[in-house]
Amino acid sequence: MWSRRSSIIVLISGNGSNLQAIINDIKRKEINAYISCVISNNEEAFGIVRAQESNIPSYIISHTDYKSREDFDNALQKKIDEFSPDLIVLAGFMRILSKNFVKTYLGKLINIHPSILPKYPGLNTHERVIKDGSNEHGVTVHYVNEDLDGGPICAKSLLKVNTTSEAELKNQINKLECKLYPAVIKWITNGEMQMKGSKVLMNNLNIGSQGITFEDLR
Ligand code: GRF
Repeated sequence: MWSRRSSIIVLISGNGSNLQAIINDIKRKEINAYISCVISNNEEAFGIVRAQESNIPSYIISHTDYKSREDFDNALQKKIDEFSPDLIVLAGFMRILSKNFVKTYLGKLINIHPSILPKYPGLNTHERVIKDGSNEHGVTVHYVNEDLDGGPICAKSLLKVNTTSEAELKNQINKLECKLYPAVIKWITNGEMQMKGSKVLMNNLNIGSQGITFEDLR
């Protein structure tokens, strides 16, 4: 069945490996969508090069050019609204977004976080997991609401921790991210997954507060 291709905007701050995974799955026609633009708050983000290499329009909106978080978010919002996207994907976007911004795009804004939420919200998750001697780690994709890393959960991918090297763990987690994020984006853009109130539905059924869980997607 033919369906309209969804438009996605990806917000980044750095390397853009998640962006690349999404680009690759769009090219492979795994995801029926197109990236209308990539926006970075960091002009040195390698993700900008990745976007250019795939002929995706990219914009730098640096938070350092704005007096307040609200001013920056307004500039971001103005650029986003030029494209009327169906979905806004935070892919390593290292800025906390204002309440107003989040409210504007509620249900259309998703994030990937390198931990099994609600465990380890915030930064330095790999370091904290190793320090605590946790035997399980993973990644979570969630809709963004006003709570930091606390919005309704779409999906998780878990792994058993078998290293004390932060770099190695980060690398293992990144592999999970690059599989999980495109999978969730596929579900959302083809209309299978959606947020309703504080719940995530898959084919109109509530998937529960922990989302769809994969043991290890590497
Ligand atoms: C990922 O670990 C993501 O979970 C976190 O920031 C990192 C971004 O990596 N929020 P990349 O820029 O996609 O390579």
